[in-house]
Amino acid sequence: MSEPDRYLIANWKMHSPPLPGWVKAVCAHGWDRGVEVVLCPPFTQLAAAQMVLTDTGIALGAQDCHQAESGAHTGDIAASMLKKAGCGYVIVGHSERRAQHGEDNAAVYAKAQQALAYGLRPVICVGESLAEREAGAQEAVVERQLAESVPPDAQTLIAYEPVWAIGTGRSAQDDDIAAMHAHIKKRLDCDVPVLYGGSVRPENAGDVLAIAGVNGVLVGSASLKGGDFAQIVGAAGS
Ligand code: PGA
Repeated sequence: MSEPDRYLIANWKMHSPPLPGWVKAVCAHGWDRGVEVVLCPPFTQLAAAQMVLTDTGIALGAQDCHQAESGAHTGDIAASMLKKAGCGYVIVGHSERRAQHGEDNAAVYAKAQQALAYGLRPVICVGESLAEREAGAQEAVVERQLAESVPPDAQTLIAYEPVWAIGTGRSAQDDDIAAMHAHIKKRLDCDVPVLYGGSVRPENAGDVLAIAGVNGVLVGSASLKGGDFAQIVGAAGS
């Protein structure tokens, strides 16, 4: 099977909209062959999602995994468990986890390696804070995150998510996205898909997806309603 050329990933975070209606709305629109649509619900919805997504063409992903194989890690989930639950993808190093759970680059690297060891494709998030961008340090920050949290493996995906654009309704400017994606692609050892995330909505998805070097989008808030996410998927071509 050939590699998709666009990835549209719904990150539900700690929200749980009803699955059947969401799937119906997304599937009603359809999408191009080269487009991979992925749903990352909370852990408790993975089993139900796996059933509902059967034969829809929508892939299943999780929002995090632990860096260890197994062990005394209350509340955590291993990559092997996600694989068994039917996941093909797992988001690692999201800025909310880096900030709220103190995950550093080394932990993110180890999580990505665990994912890869079990045949899951890690979606590794990188991105600068507002203060870092205002100081002109965005490229240096992202470069360090890439160097320290991305294992060189063709199965990885990168999501560039400027922290100040997440959940704020303030997406990055097209020029800034293009510049950062070009920078990221230059710095990576492998030619892997680079997605953009941060306030992607039905209204701006077409523009974002048309930017050179953008291989897809990681969508939070606007992925919660099936109809909205369907429009974003539609912007990738259907
Ligand atoms: P947002 O979130 O679309 O709500 O900005 C994106 C993300 O955090 O992945």
